[in-house]
Amino acid sequence: MIDNVVPDGGHRKRPSGFRNTLIIGSVGVLSAGLVLVGMSTTANAASTLGASAQQSGRYFGTAISTAHLGDSQYTTIANAEFNMVTPENEMKIDATEPNQGQFNFTNGDRVFNWARQNGKRVRGHTLAWHSQQPGWMQSLSGSALRNAMINHINGVMAHYRGNIYAWDVVNEAFADGSSGGRRSSNLQSTGNDWIEVAFRTARAADPNAKLCYNDYNTDNWTAAKTQGVFRMVQDFKQRGVPIDCVGFQSHFNGNSPYPSNYRTTLSSFANLGVDVAITELDIQGGSATTYANVVNDCLAVARCVGITTWGVRDSDSWLGAGASPLLFDSGGNKKPAYTAVLNALNASPTVSPTPTTSPSPSTSPSPSTTFRLRNEGAGRCVDSPNSATANGTLFQIFDCHTNPNQRFTYSAGKRLEILGKCLDSPTGAGSGTRVQLWDCHTGTNQQWNFNTNGTVTNGANNLCLAVTATTNTSPVTIATCNGSANQRWTMA
Ligand code: XIL
Repeated sequence: MIDNVVPDGGHRKRPSGFRNTLIIGSVGVLSAGLVLVGMSTTANAASTLGASAQQSGRYFGTAISTAHLGDSQYTTIANAEFNMVTPENEMKIDATEPNQGQFNFTNGDRVFNWARQNGKRVRGHTLAWHSQQPGWMQSLSGSALRNAMINHINGVMAHYRGNIYAWDVVNEAFADGSSGGRRSSNLQSTGNDWIEVAFRTARAADPNAKLCYNDYNTDNWTAAKTQGVFRMVQDFKQRGVPIDCVGFQSHFNGNSPYPSNYRTTLSSFANLGVDVAITELDIQGGSATTYANVVNDCLAVARCVGITTWGVRDSDSWLGAGASPLLFDSGGNKKPAYTAVLNALNASPTVSPTPTTSPSPSTSPSPSTTFRLRNEGAGRCVDSPNSATANGTLFQIFDCHTNPNQRFTYSAGKRLEILGKCLDSPTGAGSGTRVQLWDCHTGTNQQWNFNTNGTVTNGANNLCLAVTATTNTSPVTIATCNGSANQRWTMA
C-alpha cells in the first residue's frame, strides 16, 4: 500500500497534499496510521523543537551534562523540547578511560540512561580527539598511542554497542587557517592514517552506529579547512573507508560568523553520500535571524538529519551566560531565537510517518483503526501463521495482505491486539526470543512502545521487535536494539 522503505538517513516522503498532525503520544501513532490508510488530517504546528523537527523526519537535540541532571527546570525543558542527546563531556576520553585500560562509564551512563528513559536517542561524543585526553594518553606516542586509541574505541563502543545512533568517531582533526591540512597532535604523529584506522575500528566495534567526522570552522564552503575535510571524506568514500556522516559543530561568533554559503557546504558534503548534521550549535548573541537561517539551511538539504544545540539554557553554555548563545535564557524562558527556530521547523513540508515516541500513557485510538506492522528491512508484515489463535502461536512475517491475521489495533494499555488476542513477549524472554500470541492482560510484557526511530520496544524488557531474516515465514523476535532496518516498523 505504501512504499516507504527508507535508506539509512533518508526521509520518508509523505504523499503531497497531506499535512502532518503531530501530537505527542500514541495519538500521534494513530494519526500516522490514519494518514497511511489515506484519510486526510488537519495541519497542526508542533509546539516543541523535537516534535516540529520530527515532522520532516529530523531530530532536534541538545548537549546534556550530568552537572544539571538534578535541576528540574533543566530536565523539564530538555525532556519536553529535545529528542536527541549528546553527552557534553561524559563520553570523552578522559571521562571514559581515566586510567589506561580501566573504563569508567558512570557519568556516560547517567546521561545515556536519562536519554533512554525519556525516549531519546543518543549521539556518542567522542572517541578520538586531541583534546580532553587523560594524562596517560597525552604522554603516549607512536604505536603505543595508536594501539591505545584502537583499544579505547573498542572499549567504549562495546559498552554502548547497539544503543548509539551516531558516534563522533574523530573530532577536530583538521587545522585552522589556510593550510587545509591536519592539525598537529599526538594522534596525527602516529601517522596520517590514524583517522581511517579509527573509522575502520569503529565500524567493526558497532556496525549499527553511524560513524561521523565532527569539526568546527568547517561551515564556510570556501575555507581551506572545510575543503580539507571535504577531500578527506571524498577520499574515504572512494576508497571504502567506512564513514556515514559529517558533523558541523557550528559554534558561531564574531570571529567565526554564520556564512552565507552554509547551505552549499551542507549540500556539498551530503552529495558525497554522507548524512550531515549540525552537532554543537550556538550563536553568540543569539540572533533569531541567524538561528532561523541555520535551520532553513538544514531543512533545505535532504540528508541534513538533525540539529543539536550545545546546551539548554544560556547559563548552561560552555561559553557562559553572557554570550547568550542558546534558545532558552538563564531563567529557562524561550528566547526570540527559540520562536524563530520553531517557526522555521513548522514551515517545513511534513514528511515522516514514523511513529512518535509515547513517553506517557496515552489516550486510546479507536478500536476500529487497524494497521499492519510492516518491517522496513523485509518489506513484509507481522502475521499469525494460518490465522492461528492458540496461546503460544509464534508470529512470523509474510507478504502484507488485508486479512485479519495481519491486522492490529493499539489499545489503551499499549497492547497490540490481533485476532482477539495480544502480541506477547514471553515472560523473562531475552534477546532472540520469538514473540507469541496470548490472551490479553495488563502485564508489561504485552506493552509496546513506538519510538521516534521507528523501533517498537517491549515494556517488560525494552528489547526491540525484530525479524531475523527477510523471507516469508521468518520469525518475529525481540532483540537487543540497534535501530537497523530489521528493527524498524511502519504502521501500514
Ligand atoms: C566543551 C564542553 O562544552 C565544555 O564543558 C568542556 O569544558 C570543553 O568541551 N567542541 C567539541 C565539544 O567537540 O566537545 C566541546 O565541548 C566544545 C567544542
